[in-house]
Amino acid sequence: ATQPSSPSAGQPVSLPRPVSTVAIVGAGSVGATLAYATLVRGAARRVVLYDINRAKVTAEAADIGHGIEFISQATIEGSDDIEICRDADLVVFTAGAKQHPGQSRMDLAATTVGLVKKVLPTLVDIAPHAIHMMVTNPVDVVTYAAQKITGLPPNQVFGSGTVLDSSRLRFLISRECGVAVQNVHAYVLGEHGDSEVPMWSSASIGGVPLLEWLGRDGSPMFTDAVRERLGHDVVHAAYSIIEGKGATNYAVGLAVTRIIEAVLRNEHRVLPVSTRIDDEFLGISDVCLSMPTIVDAHGARERLGLPMSTREMEQLRGSADHIRAAARSLGF
Ligand code: 2OP
Repeated sequence: ATQPSSPSAGQPVSLPRPVSTVAIVGAGSVGATLAYATLVRGAARRVVLYDINRAKVTAEAADIGHGIEFISQATIEGSDDIEICRDADLVVFTAGAKQHPGQSRMDLAATTVGLVKKVLPTLVDIAPHAIHMMVTNPVDVVTYAAQKITGLPPNQVFGSGTVLDSSRLRFLISRECGVAVQNVHAYVLGEHGDSEVPMWSSASIGGVPLLEWLGRDGSPMFTDAVRERLGHDVVHAAYSIIEGKGATNYAVGLAVTRIIEAVLRNEHRVLPVSTRIDDEFLGISDVCLSMPTIVDAHGARERLGLPMSTREMEQLRGSADHIRAAARSLGF
């Protein structure tokens, strides 16, 4: 032989550990941005994108793929054949109706649930061991329907819930008090939508209860009026972004990537994801909504019992009723 050869020449490259695959269903602005964020953050070594629009899914995968040299070792493929999702470790469902300016997330329920009914059974068939995460809106209704349709254990099918809303609230609090967002702890719980509930009583800034945080003048900074304004801004964030640019994609891409990391790295991370709640103490049952939940390789593993005020509890019950009524109206 005149050519140098290496011992492994012609052999398939074997990887030191199994490659985790994230399958993203839907190559719209959320699906594509999520694929990008997942790869840039190194959350998964293999990302596959599935969409019925072949031209779009192929183009999105190619555009992201051409930048792989500049990030971590990873692969991305796109296809209009659902088989590409086979044996994925995590399936993230982002396909569905697009929210137009002035529409609420609930307005999308019938179309999106119809799509979930059509596509999800095949996904469960070809990726039976996967954790299935629903992202499409209205995510709590979609998650409830997805659990009914698949019959999978509740930990294995959950929704991205209010992880994004909570990061929006933390961002706004951080701007108000001038402390890094990573040191601000605050949840938005309940529906990912109009009836969501900011949990002020458990919010804290660097370990100081938010309600005791003092402004420059020595009086509490987060007065009723300030809390009302911030709560309003969180609920209306998506509406104003959709008004301005037609869709939200960046923050949701990062928020869902955070959840993907918690699952694939078995992180036992507490995140407000949407799961089925049957809780006598709270007076909430037979509905999916967001509560702080430990997320790891088992999916949405275990819910925390967060202390809350009577008013917050009442608001959560209202949110639950709202979601349940929407699910019922679709026959779930
Ligand atoms: C969001 O909150 C529209 O649910 C999407 O950004």
